[in-house]
Amino acid sequence: MTALTLSTAAVAGLRADAIVIGVAKGSASKPGGPVVAPGAEAVDQAYDGNLAGVLETLGASGAEGEVTKLPAPAGFKAPLVLAVGLGAQPQEDSGYDAEALRKAAGVAARALSGTKKAAFALPLTDAADAAAVAEGVLLGAYSFDAYKDQGDAKNGKNAKAPLGEAALLGGKPRDKAYKAAVERAVAVSEELNRARDLINTPPNDLNPEAFAAVAQTAAKEHGIKVQVLDEKALVKGGYGGILGVGAGSASGPRLVKLSYTSSKAKKHIALVGKGITYDSGGISLKPAGHNETMKCDMSGAAAVFAAVVAAARLGLEVNVTGWLALAENMPSGSATRPGDVLRMYSGKTVEVLNTDAEGRLVLADALWAASQEKPDVVVDVATLTGAMVLALGNRTFGIMANDDAFRALVQEAAEEAGEPAWPMPLPEHLRKGMESSTADIANMGERMGGGLVAGLFLREFVGEGITWAHLDIAGPAFNEGGPFGYTPKGGTGSAVRTLVRLAERAAAGELS
Ligand code: BES
Ligand code: MN
Ligand code: ZN
Repeated sequence: MTALTLSTAAVAGLRADAIVIGVAKGSASKPGGPVVAPGAEAVDQAYDGNLAGVLETLGASGAEGEVTKLPAPAGFKAPLVLAVGLGAQPQEDSGYDAEALRKAAGVAARALSGTKKAAFALPLTDAADAAAVAEGVLLGAYSFDAYKDQGDAKNGKNAKAPLGEAALLGGKPRDKAYKAAVERAVAVSEELNRARDLINTPPNDLNPEAFAAVAQTAAKEHGIKVQVLDEKALVKGGYGGILGVGAGSASGPRLVKLSYTSSKAKKHIALVGKGITYDSGGISLKPAGHNETMKCDMSGAAAVFAAVVAAARLGLEVNVTGWLALAENMPSGSATRPGDVLRMYSGKTVEVLNTDAEGRLVLADALWAASQEKPDVVVDVATLTGAMVLALGNRTFGIMANDDAFRALVQEAAEEAGEPAWPMPLPEHLRKGMESSTADIANMGERMGGGLVAGLFLREFVGEGITWAHLDIAGPAFNEGGPFGYTPKGGTGSAVRTLVRLAERAAAGELS
């Protein structure tokens, strides 16, 4: 990953491949034209105070996502100035918002892939701004090249290496708040990028067993207790949901429990992740065009895994248990059929009407297992329904809950983390669509409102009296389009930052 430093160096004397500055869209004071953001004063002076004019000549407007390259002025050690758009200029006195900085830093880091070192002279007013730029750089520089020809490093063909080093100018390296904020950004970004790696790893190399092994290794490294239930243990324990989904695959299912504990903890949160390492649909096979990206169906488990490790690295004063419900959903002679009835870990029976509604089956067992420990709250994260993608699009995840205040709190955590999220209801009338003539409940109901139906199904497997929220990340988990801001193509690491923020809120005693 890109190395990060806080630097007090003067910009002209800095040895780097590029200096990154911010440019905003002019507001009332300068309608239309680009405005050079604070942090770039020295660069502006070297252009005789006419940097805004130079940028305007080059066609820069300051719009979000815009990159303008210009040769550095005479006397600078770095050859290139890269001006990145920050969007609208903030109101008088208020600084740029964290998300604008994060996005701009990410765009710049991506534009600088293949280079060794860049200095970021973006507008920083406090430690939180420095953390936002750090996150933007580390997340934006990410690329997944493990399966690409690395080529001949000397002629620089093929995969471009991510930006090697970023120095944040204007950050205060001796200030405790700055140091802590940047350390947090590094820990969270590293774990988030690791989640992206897992999501992007092709399903022939990441089956449930392989995912469990990765979790085991990381847990040991960070002092997290880990327990892996293999097929035999799942049979013994009666985990009919996880076993039913995994029944068609040559790679057996797993349930991984990660326990991070702090001696100072007053609260306990449980996180449950859907970990379908590949979702073919099973016997209710998905048609071509709907299965090419289904390696992403373990994004919830990847997010939970990353959040638990990040909580441990940050030493948060809260107990966090992560549950990874891992299975591969495949059709075969041993696969669960539409019409089969599964006896779940909770004891309830489920008639499987559609084997492609598998996420709720593995989650049901893991939610019930998590509930047995009586945590203060349970949050599950899942690429659960196409319906949620239709409802909220590709960048926003849906939040459902059995408690209005907790749903609002999760949304707040998402907002603080810079993740778009929106509350969704659990309308009671949709429950009757899941009535089964044979079993206690069917795994499918009305087509309309499918995301909410799935949420209602999950709710039945949350232990009595336990506060629960469900994040349906089917939209934002995997980016099939081009990269934007600090979001790459492929696995995005959706929900990781929200979960970490939630754990921090719990540690601060702010769960309710
Ligand atoms: N993994 C899919 C949901 C999904 C869709 C994730 C698009 C990411 C992008 C899930 O297992 C699924 O197949 N859901 C079905 C449920 C239906 C059969 C009730 C769906 O949404 O179509
Ligand atoms: Mn499915
Ligand atoms: Zn699925």
